[in-house]
Amino acid sequence: MIVFIVTLTMAFLLWVILDNSNRRKSPPGPLKIPIFGNALQISLADNFTGPAYYKLAKKYGDVMSLKTGTMDSIVLSSYEVIRELFSKDELSDRQCDGPGMDRNMNRNMGVIFSSGKIWRDLRRFTLRNLRDFGFSKTNLMENAQQDELQYFKDFVKEKLKKSEDGVVSMDGFFNLSVLNIVWGMIMSERFPYDDPKLKHYIRLNDEFFLSNNFVSSWSLYFPFLRSWFPEQSGRNAVLRSVAGLQDFIRGLIQDCRRKEIYKVNPQNLVDVFLEKIESERNDPNTSFDDDQLLITMLDVFQAGIETTSNILSWTILFLILNPDVQAKLYEEISRMIPKGEQITLDYKNRMPYTHATILEAHRRAQIIPIAIAHKVVSDFVYRGYLFKAGTPVFANTYAVLMNEKMWPNPDKFSPERFIDASGNIDKKKAEIVKIVFLPGKRVCIGESVAESTFFMYLVGLVQTFQFQCVPGKPKPTTEPQVGFAYSPHPFDVLIKVRDN
Ligand code: HEM
Repeated sequence: MIVFIVTLTMAFLLWVILDNSNRRKSPPGPLKIPIFGNALQISLADNFTGPAYYKLAKKYGDVMSLKTGTMDSIVLSSYEVIRELFSKDELSDRQCDGPGMDRNMNRNMGVIFSSGKIWRDLRRFTLRNLRDFGFSKTNLMENAQQDELQYFKDFVKEKLKKSEDGVVSMDGFFNLSVLNIVWGMIMSERFPYDDPKLKHYIRLNDEFFLSNNFVSSWSLYFPFLRSWFPEQSGRNAVLRSVAGLQDFIRGLIQDCRRKEIYKVNPQNLVDVFLEKIESERNDPNTSFDDDQLLITMLDVFQAGIETTSNILSWTILFLILNPDVQAKLYEEISRMIPKGEQITLDYKNRMPYTHATILEAHRRAQIIPIAIAHKVVSDFVYRGYLFKAGTPVFANTYAVLMNEKMWPNPDKFSPERFIDASGNIDKKKAEIVKIVFLPGKRVCIGESVAESTFFMYLVGLVQTFQFQCVPGKPKPTTEPQVGFAYSPHPFDVLIKVRDN
C-alpha cells in the first residue's frame, strides 16, 4: 500500500513538473495542476470569469498563461497589449470548439467562428455588402432607425395603455425592434412585434446564448463532459436551438431564391450572396455555398439581436437605479433636440452627457467581458514569450474597463468620469471604451450600426418616457446573467409617458 501511495505521489509530482516545465518560454501564470490545469485557481478567484481572470492577472501580469482544463491558453489584460496583439495577422484565427462547432455543423463556416481563407473571404464580402446596404450609409441607416424607433415607441405606448400599473418586463424588451434594423439590410424586411413564429425563434436564440457560458463552464475546461452529459452541460439545448434557428433561416433564404430577384436586381445581403454562389459554382476553391450562406446569416441574426438589445436593457437598468443620471440626460436631450425634430446621429457630438452615458453603460455593462478566443496562426515571440501556433488567446476586457487606477470606484455608474474640465468628452477614455468591440483584425462588423442604434434609441426613449424602479419592490440586481453575452437578469420597470 505504501509503495502504491509513494508511486502515485511521485507520478503526480512528475506530471506537475513536466506540465510546468515549458514555463521559461510561455507567459507567467499560476501553477498547473494535473487534470484541472488552473480551473481550481480560476474558480477560487471569483464566480465570474472576467473578475477571476483580472484577479489572477494582477498577480501574473497582463500577458498570462492559463490552463483551462486540458487547454493551454493566454489571457491579455491591458488595453495596450490587446490593441497591439489583435492587430497581428498571426493572431487572427478563431478558436472554435464545443458549442461553436455544434452550431457550425462541425465545419469552418461563417464569420464569427471561422478561420483562414473562409473567414477572410466571408468577412470581406459581408462587410462590403453590409456597407452597401446601409451599415455605413448614414442616411439609409438613419431612416431605418428612425422608422423602427417610431414603431417601437408606439408599441410601448400601446403596451402601457393595456397595462393597469404601467409596469413592463424588460425580458427581451428590445430584441425584435433591434433585429428589424439589421434584418432590413440582410433581407429587406421587418417583422411585426407580435409575430408568434419570430418570438419562438428569438426564444430559441436566448436559449442558445444562456445554455452556454463559453468561457467559464466546466464543460469548456473538460470538453468531453459535453458528450458524456449532453443534457446537464447544455449541449442538447444548443443542438435544439441551433436546429430550430437553422430551419428558420433556411426557409427565409429559400424564399429569396424562389423570388429570383437576386438574378436581376439584388436588394440585400442574401441576394448578393446567392448571386455569388451562382457565379462561383464551378470554382473548387470557392468560399461561397448554401451552407456558408446559412451560417453567415445565423451569425448576423444572433450577433445582431443579442448585443444591442442587451446594452439597451443594461442602460435602462442603470438609469432606473440612478435617477439623477436620467434627469441630467433628459435635461440635455430636451435642451438640444427641439420637440418634434427627428433625432439624427450628428447630435451625438453636441451632446456630451448623452455620449458619456453611452460610454459609461458600455464600460459598466461589459456585455462580453471575455470574448470568444482568437487562435495563434503561426508561432511568434512577444515580450520574450512564445505564442505557439494553435494556442487560444483571450482578451479580458473586464480588466481594462474595471481597472481601479483608470476608473476610480469602478462599480459606480458615473457618466461624469468621461467629461473633462472643459465639459467635453475625454477622447482617450472614449477610445479605451471602444475595446468592447475589440480592436484589430476581427473588430466587430456591427460596431457602426450598434453604436448608432444605441444613441437613437436612448435619446428617443428618454425623450418620450420616464423609467423608474417599481415602487415597493426590491431594486433589481446589477449582477449579470451569464451566457455568451452577459445580460441583466429580467427586471420590471415602471414606465410613464412624458407629457412633452
Ligand atoms: C453593443 C453591441 C456589440 C458589441 C459590444 C459587439 C462586440 C463584439 C466583439 C467583442 C466581437 C469579437 C471581436 C474579436 O473576436 O476580435 C464581435 C464580433 C462580431 N460582431 Fe459584434 N458586437 C456588437 C454588435 C454587433 C452587431 C449589431 C452585429 C451585426 C451585424 C455584430 C456582428 C459581429 C460579427 C459578425 C462578428 C465576428 C467578426 C469576426 O470574427 O471577424 N455585432 N462583436
